Amino acid sequence: MTTSAEPVRPGPLAARPVPPAPWMLRLPGVYRPQEDTALLAAAIADLAIPDGARALDLCTGTGAQAITLARRGARTVLAVDLSRRALVSARLNALLRQLAVRPCRGDLTTALREGPFDVVVANPPYVPAPRAAVRSTRGWDAGPDGRAVLDPLCTAAGALLRPGGTMLIVQSTLSDVDKSAEMLTAQGMQTSVVRRVRIPFGPVLSGRTAFLESAGLIAPGQRWEELVVLRAVR
Ligand SMILES: C[S@@+](CC[C@H](N)C(=O)[O-])C[C@H]1O[C@@H](n2cnc3c(N)ncnc32)[C@H](O)[C@@H]1O
Repeated sequence: MTTSAEPVRPGPLAARPVPPAPWMLRLPGVYRPQEDTALLAAAIADLAIPDGARALDLCTGTGAQAITLARRGARTVLAVDLSRRALVSARLNALLRQLAVRPCRGDLTTALREGPFDVVVANPPYVPAPRAAVRSTRGWDAGPDGRAVLDPLCTAAGALLRPGGTMLIVQSTLSDVDKSAEMLTAQGMQTSVVRRVRIPFGPVLSGRTAFLESAGLIAPGQRWEELVVLRAVR
């Protein structure tokens, strides 16, 4: 575990294997649950969720994290996403499991209007991309430094959370975990890395290694990234 005062250095391979990503019903174009989904869900499973908690899953996709929050006992779970198809998928997945999740079309601004929350979780787009995201890549692409969604989210963390509330964010080391930790710490939050795993590049990153190398985001020949779950307590 790393405290906020220290840089988030490359860590050893996760001691605990990441469980497989949960099966979720998914309309075409909706983000397929994968390693980051499973890593964040595992971190939520470790969280002590207070009785009567109001929870937010920002960037919900299939609703995988919202469902984990509802299973863990959150009283209300708001599931926010820009994509209508994602929200239909999240609604169906929650219905199938008879769990109360409220899908809501929107973004961070929508979430801020509905807050504050006791628990906020997010698996936002964080993949560095040479071009701006388009509808088909909106699930993962996040601008040249991978921080198009992370920066506003970290800036808004204090306003999204009630005092004592907890935020969990999953992201890649390619999109500057230290910057996220610093932004959260600057708001007086206790910040730590609670989960991390090293994985080989998938098809998206494998297709942009020249860009990543020229941007200095990876060393020459590097074909892996670490996924990290940051926890911030207000
Ligand atoms: C990496 S996927 C995560 C999906 C799911 N939470 C998971 O863990 O598998 C990111 C999701 O964020 C949504 N999204 C992208 N930009 C967004 C934004 N600015 N506000 C809200 N949702 C956004 C995408 O539509 C996509 O469903």
